[in-house]
Amino acid sequence: MKIAIASDHAGRELKEEIAALLKEKGIEVIDYGVDNPESVDYPDYGIKVAGAVSKGLAGMGILSCGTGIGMSIVANKFPNVRAALCSDMFTARMSRLHNDANVLVLGGRTVEKAVALLMVETWLKTEFEGGRHQRRLDKIRELEKGLYNNKKDEHRCQN
Ligand code: RB5
Repeated sequence: MKIAIASDHAGRELKEEIAALLKEKGIEVIDYGVDNPESVDYPDYGIKVAGAVSKGLAGMGILSCGTGIGMSIVANKFPNVRAALCSDMFTARMSRLHNDANVLVLGGRTVEKAVALLMVETWLKTEFEGGRHQRRLDKIRELEKGLYNNKKDEHRCQN
């Protein structure tokens, strides 16, 4: 399976470490950059990874920016992408078990590098549990297809 990775300037160092780890494990990496320290706009890079995962060009993706927030906002705009901004081992593991996250998002300025690398390893080897969690993902898929049935007004604000 190919893994697409990218970062902005604030996540670049972490992204480089992650790329090295993946290659060491014999995983094919599609590195969409950024490859220098100059300031860039995270959407330009998030779009590349999320687009690749959305179209099936990569099986999974890993994104990094300063906090991970911008990248996760961008990535979750794409159909078939379930991007999880994770902060520790627990959230990394749960994002696979319960959410079948196919994009891991990490904050280069918020997570210790050593912890982030362990999170990547855990994330890659944890399988989706399915069952009741699949039903929930099916509802997300309906949202993506515009099939969400709002006739009961369940989600309107009651002022
Ligand atoms: C860049 O300074 C920073 O805003 C960006 O890396 C990210 O944290 C945005 O969410």
